[in-house]
Amino acid sequence: MRPYIICHMGTSIDGRLHPSRFTMPAQGISRDVLRGHYERVHDQFDADGWIVGRVTMNEMAKGKERSVRDAPRVERKAHVAARNGRKLAIGIDPSGRVHYGKDNVGGDHAVAVLGEGVSDAYLAELREDGVSYVFAGPKGDDLSRAMEEIALLFDVKKLVLEGGGRINGSFFKLKLIDEFSTLIHPAVDGVAGGQSIMDYDGPEGDRPGTGQSLRLTHCETLEGGMVWLRHAVEPAPV
Ligand SMILES: NC(=O)c1ccc[n+]([C@@H]2O[C@H](COP(=O)([O-])OP(=O)(O)OC[C@H]3O[C@@H](n4cnc5c(N)ncnc54)[C@H](OP(=O)(O)O)[C@@H]3O)[C@@H](O)[C@H]2O)c1
Repeated sequence: MRPYIICHMGTSIDGRLHPSRFTMPAQGISRDVLRGHYERVHDQFDADGWIVGRVTMNEMAKGKERSVRDAPRVERKAHVAARNGRKLAIGIDPSGRVHYGKDNVGGDHAVAVLGEGVSDAYLAELREDGVSYVFAGPKGDDLSRAMEEIALLFDVKKLVLEGGGRINGSFFKLKLIDEFSTLIHPAVDGVAGGQSIMDYDGPEGDRPGTGQSLRLTHCETLEGGMVWLRHAVEPAPV
């Protein structure tokens, strides 16, 4: 069985995801207080780890590309490194582009979700770094299977999905999101065409939310005027 997955995002009132572009907090409202809500709410979930897309993980992982010589040909099966009781930092990286350089991201044990087409040299680099990996099918897009395998291998019950918009959209399309947790800043980005917290990148006309409905389960105003919404995802009525 796959883990319970909460998509937790901070946003402006127009759904954008880059806080550096938001309007300034109003007089007397602390930017630090607003920003602090994100991690505090995240910690409340007491999840077994977090998931981000390749682009976001690339910004977080600090390793450098290196060439592992004479990498042995290995079967495309999961590799579980030393987790040592840590939470998981899961990167969805179908082509093996993220270089970790160590076995953790921010102290949480790194797990790469890969396509079977990645090179043996890249897999050797991950093993040398102490990073765990699982495969999500030939193209790396069978995320349902990858989530089930992670649940089984790491005894994971709950994960937090934290963007960016494209990986969130992919998880939503695959009906892998059980709940949304959305922190709405008292702010606007305001520019047309910016990235949003849900940016499904699929075929023309495809609607990722088809067959799904959201039910509001929680609404709270936090210090500084941030609004915290929680929505459960349910099958849409027929
Ligand atoms: N609120 C916040 O402040 C916040 C939170 C998170 C992220 N961000 C920002 O968001 C930006 C990145 O967002 P993004 O939407 O461009 O990228 P992203 O969601 O981080 O990563 C997208 C990548 O994930 C992989 N992917 C997407 N769908 C997939 C699927 N169905 N199966 C397998 N792999 C899949 C693809 O990797 P490949 O291209 O390798 O195929 C895709 O390019 C960054 O600038 C980051 O800083 C902001």
